[in-house]
Amino acid sequence: MQVSVPFSPEQASTFASEVDSLYGFLWALTILFGVGLSLTILYFAVKYRRRDEDEIPRPIRPAMRLEVTWTVIPFIVSMGIFVWGASIYYRMYHSPTDALDIYVVGKQWMWKFQHLDGQREINELHIPYGRRIKLTMTTEDVIHAFYVPAFRVKMDVVPGKYSSIWFEPTKPGRYQLFCAEYCGTNHSGMIGWVNVMEPSDYQAWLSGGTAEGSLASTGQKLFNDLACISCHRSDGQGRGPRLDELFGSQVALADGSKVTADEAYIRESILDPQAKIVQGYPKPSIMPTFRGLVTEEQLLQLITYIKSLNQQQGTRRKPGFRAAVATVALNTGWPVASQRRAEAAAIIRSSEYEHCS
Ligand code: CUA
Repeated sequence: MQVSVPFSPEQASTFASEVDSLYGFLWALTILFGVGLSLTILYFAVKYRRRDEDEIPRPIRPAMRLEVTWTVIPFIVSMGIFVWGASIYYRMYHSPTDALDIYVVGKQWMWKFQHLDGQREINELHIPYGRRIKLTMTTEDVIHAFYVPAFRVKMDVVPGKYSSIWFEPTKPGRYQLFCAEYCGTNHSGMIGWVNVMEPSDYQAWLSGGTAEGSLASTGQKLFNDLACISCHRSDGQGRGPRLDELFGSQVALADGSKVTADEAYIRESILDPQAKIVQGYPKPSIMPTFRGLVTEEQLLQLITYIKSLNQQQGTRRKPGFRAAVATVALNTGWPVASQRRAEAAAIIRSSEYEHCS
């Protein structure tokens, strides 16, 4: 009988070969040093063994050149591993802005997925290959961890906050999904499948449709049903702040600080309206808490709806590198000529809005 034990799982994302190369290098280095040191110990044990009872070894003089060599070389090697690992880590944990958004809610003991088009699935995730996929994840109960070995991605899913992970599948197939954090009795049963499809098949799958409409329209319905709309009016005459153009913007708060309106901020404002009060609105806030009234999945629907309000006008996007540098230059009062300051302001302005067709 032949048993094949795979050294590593199938490679099915753009990260897979990079992670495997680094891991392979660590293996090779470990074997090299492990074997090298063991053989050296054996050789020295034989060569420098005590030959008679009252033998006195020669005094040892410090060998400077040797000491420096075996300090500098491992230093260079370990810094190399650090830079290599950090660069992969940095790319893995910074989501691209052009990714396909999918929302994930973990629960003892299942994975629930929501697509922007409205499809919802449990323990099965359908995605197209060749596209970057971004998962925004939270959980209804305890900590879980989203893990797809074939993509080499793993991320904790923590109650009360959003974590995200992204990947780009490179070939169609069916890949196992695990929970990688012990979360109770049926932790080992909290598994599922990621179905990576040809883009055309994916479109067909999407158009298979749902009775409920898109995630944003479900969110809009909820927004009306919960009467959010009676205070957050788009004409600015309501008792709460306007929400169009909110997502991704900098919000000035009553205490003088600023906060970026991201998923976490919106979630917190729905569940705990007193936490951050927008400048110019009464303190304490007149908004009641919706804790216990909306589920994690519904929160994601509301957030998607609020996000979609941006796209109806223009998309505010994260400032690019140049805009970030310009912002720092302006805010810290770097000694730049006034012409350069004007240029910087223009870069920031141009990066804030990107009209979509
Ligand atoms: Cu969920 Cu382990």
